[in-house]
Amino acid sequence: MLFESFMFSGLELKNRLVRSATYEKRADEDGFVTEGLLEFYDELAAGGVGLIITGFAMVHPSGRAVPKMLSVHSERYVESLRQLTRRVHERGGLIALQIAHGGRQSPPLLLGGAPPMAPSAVIDTSTGVTPREMTGEEIWQIIDAFGDAARRARDAEFDAVQIHGAHGYLVSSFLSPHTNTRDDYWGGDEERRFHFLEEVYESIRENAGDSFPVLIKLNGDDLLPGGLHPEDSLRIALRLQALGIDGIEISGGMRESPIKTIRPKILKPAEEAYFRETGGLFKKHLQVPVILTGGMRSRAVMEDVLRKKEADLIGMSRPLIREPGLPGKMLQTGKEKGDCISCNRCMNFLRIDRVKCLDLLAGGKDKKAS
Ligand SMILES: Cc1cc2nc3c(=O)[nH]c(=O)nc-3n(C[C@H](O)[C@H](O)[C@H](O)COP(=O)(O)O)c2cc1C
Repeated sequence: MLFESFMFSGLELKNRLVRSATYEKRADEDGFVTEGLLEFYDELAAGGVGLIITGFAMVHPSGRAVPKMLSVHSERYVESLRQLTRRVHERGGLIALQIAHGGRQSPPLLLGGAPPMAPSAVIDTSTGVTPREMTGEEIWQIIDAFGDAARRARDAEFDAVQIHGAHGYLVSSFLSPHTNTRDDYWGGDEERRFHFLEEVYESIRENAGDSFPVLIKLNGDDLLPGGLHPEDSLRIALRLQALGIDGIEISGGMRESPIKTIRPKILKPAEEAYFRETGGLFKKHLQVPVILTGGMRSRAVMEDVLRKKEADLIGMSRPLIREPGLPGKMLQTGKEKGDCISCNRCMNFLRIDRVKCLDLLAGGKDKKAS
């Protein structure tokens, strides 16, 4: 099934593999596309993955989350982003722009020393940073920024946008009772916590139109006490489906969650597909396509997930950092498993000049480091 084509919302994917959004640290300091980024996407697109989702692109400078991330916060970025889409299209690929605001997980260092903004002033225990509560005016400003970003993505010829609604960034922090303790239109109960995402979605539709595919990456589980659990997330997904969302990707966790989003040491098939149970729950109740991401390494597990109806599409991040051509290798040479050992050294963002596989550069000798 993995190499069967898949159609949804006017997109025709040549297989069921999706490159899940992966920050590359390859934009320039201002967030423009660089030659290095183009070369990397060239390799990814030529490598045969059905759909590429870019690393997160910031919709507003107050949401800068990491250095050298892509940006889409002004018209100035459209032409630069168009180079990226054209490069992928020339290779026969499809590409979606992930649009994001870092919210409480934006480091003050990247905000000129100012505290980051969030729905509520809830300390991030992993960094000790307490964000400041957003005003109503700021909330509407960011909602508009998401809409403008989606319109720019359409103008830059992306095939879709994906709202980053996972991992504790701004959208996710509005949805979660752990990080949203407001008692107004934007918080207080499940319905009110959903308002921010609802307005973001409507703003995207108003700006980018009804036929432009809009996807979302959601936490199926925040993986911390007082956060969202799969049944809560399913209700969010059902609301999004009713609004008209085109596809939902499942992930989980926030930076401070004790169980990690990007789990290390995935060496056995049983450790792969670590959100598959949530995938099964979502697939049982939803009609929109479900992308499952997290730990998939071997073709047998991916096929099993598809066969058991735990997902329609398989998302992968780390294996494609190491081997951008993995899908093609699986198809053409029958390769059964990616070489990624989940050592997570590709995530040492402050130390490395760009995101790359350090184990591969060390000659693949560091199995114990995983
Ligand atoms: C280096 C790196 C950068 C990432 N950047 C993003 C990102 O920009 N947006 C996002 O939603 N997830 C991001 N992720 C998370 C992945 O998309 C994915 O959810 C996670 O790595 C689990 O999938 P995997 O086991 O296939 O790596 C990143 C992961 C890594 C390793």
